[in-house]
Amino acid sequence: MKKIKHLIISSLLLLLIGFVGCEYKTIVPDKGDPVDPEVPISFSAEVEPIWTSQGCVSCHPSAGGLDLTVGNAHASLMSHPRAINKDNSSESTILTFKTVQPGPHGSVDYVGNQSEIIKVWIDQGALDN
Ligand code: HEC
Repeated sequence: MKKIKHLIISSLLLLLIGFVGCEYKTIVPDKGDPVDPEVPISFSAEVEPIWTSQGCVSCHPSAGGLDLTVGNAHASLMSHPRAINKDNSSESTILTFKTVQPGPHGSVDYVGNQSEIIKVWIDQGALDN
């Protein structure tokens, strides 16, 4: 009986040490350099290469009626019904990845300040510059 009590107390102690030893780390995503909305973004130099570097073009010479390849992306985005929303840039599906059919974007995303660059470019008028 004494042995069991001893065992319970020592396991409780070990549990306590375990909790105290736990460090809670908040993982802050790396947002990259801040994007100054006053500085004009260049579509060809800063925006268009993102879709190649993030692997979007492997499906998007055509998937969903959207061609994100260099040289074709601007015209295709402009003719797409939801990809760019100039009135409410954060609702643009080029940023939200919301699709009619669920699923295709599970493993793709933007990194660092890429989505901020695209958002500011849309806010600046989504120019082909
Ligand atoms: C594995 C293939 C695949 C990859 C990689 C991919 N997409 Fe897509 N995407 C699709 C498919 C399929 C659709 C059409 C889905 C539908 O019609 O519901 C689509 C649709 C879209 C749409 C249109 C959404 C709408 O309004 O209907 C956008 C915008 C888009 N993708 C952006 C991207 C971006 C940006 C990337 C890269 C970060 C990317 N996709 C990578 C397969 C892919």
